[in-house]
Amino acid sequence: MDLTITTLAERPELRDELWRMPDTWPAFVLEDPVGSSCYLRIVTSFPEYVLVATDASGRLVARAFGVPFALDVDGRGTLPDRGWDRVLLWAFADLAGGRSPDTVSAIEVTVSADHLGRGLSTRLLAALRDNARARGFTTLVAPVRPTAKHLEPHTPMAEYAFRTRADGLPHDPWLRTHVRVGGTVERVAPASMTVGGSLAEWRAWTGLPFDAPGPVEVPGALAPVRCFPEQDHAVYVEPNVWVRHPLG
Ligand SMILES: CC(C)(COP(=O)(O)OP(=O)(O)OC[C@H]1O[C@@H](n2cnc3c(N)ncnc32)[C@H](O)[C@@H]1OP(=O)(O)O)[C@@H](O)C(=O)NCCC(=O)NCCS
Repeated sequence: MDLTITTLAERPELRDELWRMPDTWPAFVLEDPVGSSCYLRIVTSFPEYVLVATDASGRLVARAFGVPFALDVDGRGTLPDRGWDRVLLWAFADLAGGRSPDTVSAIEVTVSADHLGRGLSTRLLAALRDNARARGFTTLVAPVRPTAKHLEPHTPMAEYAFRTRADGLPHDPWLRTHVRVGGTVERVAPASMTVGGSLAEWRAWTGLPFDAPGPVEVPGALAPVRCFPEQDHAVYVEPNVWVRHPLG
């Protein structure tokens, strides 16, 4: 497919179109408070790490977000248990504090709903790697949301993340894509994203009754949502998988 991939810094006119592109994210994921507060700011603070992919007609068909942050500093060093949330907070704390980044984290790759399954994600991932390398970084990391994990929400992520096929590649298609372009599955981020809400909010986000205590299977969730009717709330803690891409 004829695809043009650049940074948003190079084509700022695509900024509003980023949010109009039809995607397949489950509604409740967008309620993560860290994501809600940081997400819009990524495009204004780090446009040179946001990639936009357009087709031959100039229409946006995929986007990829990254953020630079410092990993090799006191108190950090290891890819964090609180994956996605933590790395976003680190990136914005570093920006505010003037700390030099040494690593880029991928935050999201999204392909337009009408262009799924055509290999675009591989090209966006390769472009994220190339962009980080061109800016002098030697490592890209990614708190990956495995795309087929929702089919078995009760399986521990530690077991799922390292499951491989006969050819040695990961069982999960999205982890497989990362490994094919040069990534290594490193560790689980057990609490990568946390979404808490009242039962009324969870009903609105999912259309499910949320009227009984215990784990609830929610379409698109990678682990069960915990429902506490007597407390009038439910909590979802999403596990992700850290993948490291050396860029040498
Ligand atoms: C994850 C995502 C970016 C993949 O994009 P894509 O362009 O559709 O994927 P590709 O066509 O490159 O396929 C990648 C792999 O997934 C497989 N795949 C694609 N769609 C699939 C589906 N519906 N079911 C199972 N496997 C699928 C492909 O076969 C391929 O694996 P293979 O090469 O080993 O066969 C896309 O599904 C998406 O935008 N999802 C919503 C946002 C999201 O979850 N992003 C990832 C977290 S940041």
